[in-house]
Amino acid sequence: MVLRNSIATLCAALLLNACSGENSVKESTKEETLAPTENKVGQKLFTENCAQCHGNDGKLGASGASDLSASVLDDPELTKVITKGRNAMPGMGPILGKKKSINAVVDYVKELRK
Ligand code: HEC
Repeated sequence: MVLRNSIATLCAALLLNACSGENSVKESTKEETLAPTENKVGQKLFTENCAQCHGNDGKLGASGASDLSASVLDDPELTKVITKGRNAMPGMGPILGKKKSINAVVDYVKELRK
């Protein structure tokens, strides 16, 4: 799958060594609200660019932000809202940059639903 490859490439590019399997993923002790994930790239981008409004768990709702754990948007809709923004949500496309980064964030947003 293209997405899987791109995430693997991204991880490799950033020299993250936590992509090899579940056992190597360590739960963070500082950020207890962060769920264990293999999508370190998406998680990092989310923490840096989205958590101030959405919260690490997606439920914060600052500045009227949507509860992402309750979101039902599909991939194309997520990509559109995240890239171009919607109402009070700023378009994050220029900040996230590459399509790969946007895909990693889209995947991470879906993980918040679990
Ligand atoms: C400045 C605050 C802010 C930041 C930063 C922000 N958002 Fe949002 N987000 C919002 C607001 C406000 C809404 C509700 C928009 C609306 O009312 O249409 C929203 C809505 C969304 C939705 C739509 C959810 C749904 O089910 O309708 C998604 C997905 C989303 N944000 C993802 C992200 C991601 C991913 C990032 C980081 C790349 C991010 N947001 C950064 C404020 C923010």
